[in-house]
Amino acid sequence: MTPGDRGAGGFAEGEFHSPDGAFGYPAPTTGQGTEATRRQGPRGASPVASPSAPAATAGPAAAAGAVPMVHLTIDGHQLAVPNGTTVWHAARQLGIEIPVFCYHDHMPPIGACRMCFVEVEKMPKLATSCTLEAAEDMVVRTNTDRVKQGQRGILEFLLVNHPLDCPICDKGGECPLQDNTLKFGPGASRFIETKRTFGKHVRMGPVLVLDRERCVLCWRCVRFGEIIAGDDALKGFERGYHSQIATPFMEPVASKFIGNTIGICPVGALTSGTYRFRSRPWDNRKHQSVCPHCGCGCAATLDVRGNDLARMRAREHPEVNDIWLCDKGFFGYDFTGSADRLRTPLVREGGRLRDAGWDEALERVAGALRGTPPEQIGVIGGAGGTNEDAYLLTRLFRGVVGTNSIDFRADTAFPQPAAAAPWGLGRPISDVERADVIVLLGCDLTEEYPIVWLRVKKAVDGGARLVIANPWPLEIARWARHSVTYRRGTEPAVLAALSGQGAPDDAAVRSGAEAAVLRDAAALLGGAKQTFVLAGRTALEQPEGAAVAAGLAALRAAHPSATVSLLRGRGNAGGAQALGLLPDMLPGYRPLTDARARASIAALWGRPVPASPGRAVREMLGAARRGDLRLLYVAGADPATSYPAAGAWRAARERLGLLVVHDAFLTQTAAEADVVLPVLTYAETAGTVGNLEGRIQRRDQAVLGPGEARSDSAIFTALASRLGAPFAFSSWEEVSSEIARLIPGWAEDARIAPPPITAPPSGADTPRASRPGEARGADAIDGALALVTGAKLFDRSAVSLRCPGIRALAGEAFVALPPDDAARLGIADGDLCEVRSGRGALRLAARIWSGLHPGHAYVPLGFEAAPVATLLGEDEAPFVTVRALVPAR
Ligand code: SF4
Ligand code: FES
Repeated sequence: MTPGDRGAGGFAEGEFHSPDGAFGYPAPTTGQGTEATRRQGPRGASPVASPSAPAATAGPAAAAGAVPMVHLTIDGHQLAVPNGTTVWHAARQLGIEIPVFCYHDHMPPIGACRMCFVEVEKMPKLATSCTLEAAEDMVVRTNTDRVKQGQRGILEFLLVNHPLDCPICDKGGECPLQDNTLKFGPGASRFIETKRTFGKHVRMGPVLVLDRERCVLCWRCVRFGEIIAGDDALKGFERGYHSQIATPFMEPVASKFIGNTIGICPVGALTSGTYRFRSRPWDNRKHQSVCPHCGCGCAATLDVRGNDLARMRAREHPEVNDIWLCDKGFFGYDFTGSADRLRTPLVREGGRLRDAGWDEALERVAGALRGTPPEQIGVIGGAGGTNEDAYLLTRLFRGVVGTNSIDFRADTAFPQPAAAAPWGLGRPISDVERADVIVLLGCDLTEEYPIVWLRVKKAVDGGARLVIANPWPLEIARWARHSVTYRRGTEPAVLAALSGQGAPDDAAVRSGAEAAVLRDAAALLGGAKQTFVLAGRTALEQPEGAAVAAGLAALRAAHPSATVSLLRGRGNAGGAQALGLLPDMLPGYRPLTDARARASIAALWGRPVPASPGRAVREMLGAARRGDLRLLYVAGADPATSYPAAGAWRAARERLGLLVVHDAFLTQTAAEADVVLPVLTYAETAGTVGNLEGRIQRRDQAVLGPGEARSDSAIFTALASRLGAPFAFSSWEEVSSEIARLIPGWAEDARIAPPPITAPPSGADTPRASRPGEARGADAIDGALALVTGAKLFDRSAVSLRCPGIRALAGEAFVALPPDDAARLGIADGDLCEVRSGRGALRLAARIWSGLHPGHAYVPLGFEAAPVATLLGEDEAPFVTVRALVPAR
């Protein structure tokens, strides 16, 4: 099967679903496979728990200074290593290669494959060096005849049943089994009997393919799910000859990190549904990149064949993503090759968009910019490109056009003043694993910032206490010391209780959370040395958002050592913020009100920076509705779908004189535009990007873009020239050098971290009109449910829809209901429902979520076919009625 033969998910439709809903495992074709085995497969078998391993004896013992040293000799070389170091690591320090299969640097040793044999004096048998700790006066030999014979024997055993299908195996060319066989294996096999064979590849879900014949049962993939991700996505089933890897209950694999198992599988047993048969490693050019999705900025490598992106892989960065990627990155790289990329500029004529040349399109934009007063011009977006793009955007619109109405926060209707409540982590992501208390408030971490979850998991494994407060239970709740659900909008009360400034009993009454839990969580915070409080979009994106930010500031004031973060922002939001794509902030987090900052920027640009405050997104749209803002420039954003109040956007759009959009696709906003400029994507331009911790990372151009698409920087430069203020940059490096003159410390891999929340934003305490019943904390007012929304990692946004792997993982939008409310409304799981607010209605299938706070309904964001924004307004917390239209069965 070729990639072109596959269905939407990169696989043939129905391939992994057998008629009974489970994916079928053909039985072994030799050996003892029976019809019963074939029908039941491993379903009836118990998982074989992967052998437990010592807690952390793997790598070199930390803090060598504090740990006693031991002295040993390896192949005649003497060395001293910290007590607890394994012989394998000690040998590696000497540059001695000992082959491994099961051992992996990021997991404790397990001793499953026996490939790493060494000979140790006074030990009668060969020993596995990955599990053996170095001891005083130990004498080790890694290359004796006995060792070589042992290694040959292991490889001969592994190859007994391993199919020799290297010519068609994806791993060919980067396969440790191939490499080890060549270096350490026997020249020939003595095995002449019939190999055990399984049916060929098994689909384990839309993006994961298992070839059981190739599996060497090293347990890496199983242990990754147990130890690193915590999702237990894969298990070992059956025994001995029949042992195989599978998913629990033979369901499609449930994980947000399964791509990593493909990366660490030492053979071609686990392969990618989106990469299979697309390329060979030696055909690929490798380019340094950064994942463009969630804002964590995971270091990545793009493999390119010809001009096609073949795959994205994790690139090691110990402080950001370690060596992992989430599946959004692993399988969500190839939207760039979509056939519907914009290739030429479009201009509206006679009510329709038509192709145009760059000259015509740019002149139309430049002419409008020249003819519109600066205070009637606004810019939304700018977080989709590089830092250099963002810098030229701010230089063009502040310095040349003369407006401060710039805001990259296109997905919020409740923006806080950036100077008081900046987005981002504020500390290196890796610091999270050293926390002793972590609080997630309205922050669905695995859906929004999955790589940060891996650090939280590591911290929890090390003894940290996790407290989750959210209107619905998170999938990681089982790792939490406390997990409470609360009523939407009561976060300020919860925060007051956590920071010791409010009575837990009062907060419990208001929020529906348990008072004892709030009390215990407050005590945990009080006694912690390293606390992280991560507040997410659910807590912030609501009318109480300002009060939540104020509460976070108060919590930080009460616990000065705590890291209190607004975990918001996607793509290059970190860079856009650092470079001042905000109405009240200049590059380098300097407030617009800082006259010296404006003067130094003006000296560099040779043009004044306007002192009058700009408008945030919400204010821009309000001004447009009043006719006070005539020209809106949308740079790589899609407010028509992402702004949380569709009606507010529509009314604003209708009054605009000119809407300019630059994007890679004809998004809904682009389809409504007067001028559309086609831009290059993350893989087609070079430059730097910032992440949520403010780290500056370089990404290289990997492929050429389609048609006449241009980079953001090229467009801003062309517009500056047309406006009579040309930029004199010939490369992104020159732009970056100018940024470095404005922002001290600006350099690759430096962190330009957002400042901490220091003071409550003004107006934070302004009371908001409540719906009747809300103030008394009632659930399900007048039969209506409080609507809560949340982002999903696998969604169906404009970008995700163009990644076959992500599209297949995403499924459809839904409305989730608590069991009691669903029963009251006569709704069963799967029923097609109408969800109606005072603003609009959606048709969605129902899911029953036990744990969702009573009186609430949840609808995910990011599904183009079910735009939640149609239900929302700018000023009120939304309530919806839900009624069944069609029963599921
Ligand atoms: Fe190891 Fe790969 Fe088999 Fe998993 S599938 S046990 S990683 S060889
Ligand atoms: Fe040491 Fe597998 S690598 S036993």
